[in-house]
Amino acid sequence: MEIQKMKIPRHVGIIVDGNGRWAEKRGKKRSYGHKAGSENLEKLSRYILTKTGVEILSVYVFSTENFKRSVEEVDYLMGLFTKKFKNDSKKYKQENIRIIFSGRREPLKEEVLKTMDEIVEMTKDNTGGILNFCLNYGGHSEIIDATLKIHHDLENGVIQELDETVFSKYLYHDLPPIDFLIRTSGEYRISNFMLWQASYAEFYFPETYFPDFNEEKFDQAILEYTKRDRRFGGIDYEKKDH
Ligand code: FPP
Repeated sequence: MEIQKMKIPRHVGIIVDGNGRWAEKRGKKRSYGHKAGSENLEKLSRYILTKTGVEILSVYVFSTENFKRSVEEVDYLMGLFTKKFKNDSKKYKQENIRIIFSGRREPLKEEVLKTMDEIVEMTKDNTGGILNFCLNYGGHSEIIDATLKIHHDLENGVIQELDETVFSKYLYHDLPPIDFLIRTSGEYRISNFMLWQASYAEFYFPETYFPDFNEEKFDQAILEYTKRDRRFGGIDYEKKDH
């Protein structure tokens, strides 16, 4: 598909969902689905950031609430993150993709934090696109963490006033708004993902479980985005009588 000529979202968000159900459908353990999801994510993110014109991709891979899952599942996911960040850092570096993380460091274990810091450091000068892993991330926590820092800086005279532009600078990263938000697996919820950044996002909810959400399915999503009429609360008077 000739997507280069079309209206392309600058910042895309993906709420990764359906790994567990994908595995259960095949009579396998949930961990099998997470492994398949992680492999798909690596391939798909490289496609999105190097071939489609999307500049920033934010992916929700572990929410602050996911710590409520069984110890076995949380441990498996943490091990998977550690392994993948270690193994994939060279590929991202070569593809000129910069990796960043959004979320709280506490209570992530030292071994996970170490691989996160290493991949960030290794790719920090890359300019071909940003892959933002939202890991131990919560939209509420992000707003609270920003508010605490703002309170401190207001008290100390570092800033004098607050508006949307200033507030954004206190988030985990000062990224442009999410234009297009995809949640796989047929669930219609935002689940505490990038609440500030997604305020005017277009939403898309494919039925596909994440491990099967491939390049072709992403192209279909982009095609749908190009048909949306984004007005940001205004009215396009060229198209309407007034
Ligand atoms: C939520 O749905 C998915 C997760 C909590 C984990 C997502 C993690 C990955 C894809 C691995 C990412 C790997 C790296 C290296 C960042 P679910 O899969 O629990 O699905 P369910 O609702 O069907 O149970």
